[in-house]
Amino acid sequence: MGRILSTQLMKLKNPNLSWQESGHPYSVDFDDIYFSASDPVGESTHVFIEGNKLRQRFKSFEEKVFTVGEIGFGSGLNFLLPRKVWLELSHRGSRLHYLAFENHPLSHKQLLQFSKLWPELSNEYESLAEQFPAECSGCHRLFLGDSVILDLHFGDATYRMANLDHRAGINAWYLDGFKPANNQNLWHKSLINELARLSNKGTTLATYSVAGEFRRSLKSTGFRCQKLNGFGPKRHMLSAIYEPDLTLNSNYAQEPWNKLPISKPPQNIAKDCKTPGRIWVEAVWLTL
Ligand SMILES: C[S@@+](CC[C@H](N)C(=O)[O-])C[C@H]1O[C@@H](n2cnc3c(N)ncnc32)[C@H](O)[C@@H]1O
Repeated sequence: MGRILSTQLMKLKNPNLSWQESGHPYSVDFDDIYFSASDPVGESTHVFIEGNKLRQRFKSFEEKVFTVGEIGFGSGLNFLLPRKVWLELSHRGSRLHYLAFENHPLSHKQLLQFSKLWPELSNEYESLAEQFPAECSGCHRLFLGDSVILDLHFGDATYRMANLDHRAGINAWYLDGFKPANNQNLWHKSLINELARLSNKGTTLATYSVAGEFRRSLKSTGFRCQKLNGFGPKRHMLSAIYEPDLTLNSNYAQEPWNKLPISKPPQNIAKDCKTPGRIWVEAVWLTL
């Protein structure tokens, strides 16, 4: 599905973690938590599975491949939960394709430390750990059951996304890359442009962050945003749907990747081509 153009390999840095008294990990590099200390499974289910209405959509899905894209794979908890739902609903003949982007992959040892937090997912973590790749940039494909493929894109999310073929067509996005205020290198307009480029009409998105600038940026790129109740002490979360305004003067149409290539009208147009009611619009003939 995705076509990787870059083949440069680089060793990436594992995250610098400290472990809180509650037994939960904390990112020293980003000065932020990985997930809520009180109920990470409940939080991930509320924000991402419910925020993207995955249960209902998985149930009624009749096409070949349902694709989820995640920014910030971390421990893989966000991946293992929808995988479980997908397998429960047992889709014969269709597949869950999960593309996750991660710039600071956990080491094998760190992954095992995280996995101890959820004994109920020990089998799932065992399968993930068996195939979990070394911290080397690029795309690593893991097969986790006949109907689930996990593509781990290691490296900076915006850079890795720019290497993906447009046809990847994501059905649902999980945005989980720490809060925008602490990770401005990630949450910039280029990333949001990539989210839009890899989305189709009806693609959904869910995230914890309701930061105003971030929402405005999503909106100007074609995402219709809605604030929903957050999980636990968090008042809000964000759910969005990609519904670009396709009219010619919209912001969406002005984005460079949506503009038609500029070309000159053909020279020496034969007289009989100049049919009344036809005009030359950039690269195509339009019949009015
Ligand atoms: C809140 S944690 C994600 C938790 C994760 N979803 C889970 O289920 O454990 C945020 C993740 O975003 C990653 N990240 C931060 N900046 C990034 C970037 N520029 N590109 C890709 N991943 C990034 C961090 O390394 C970290 O693993």
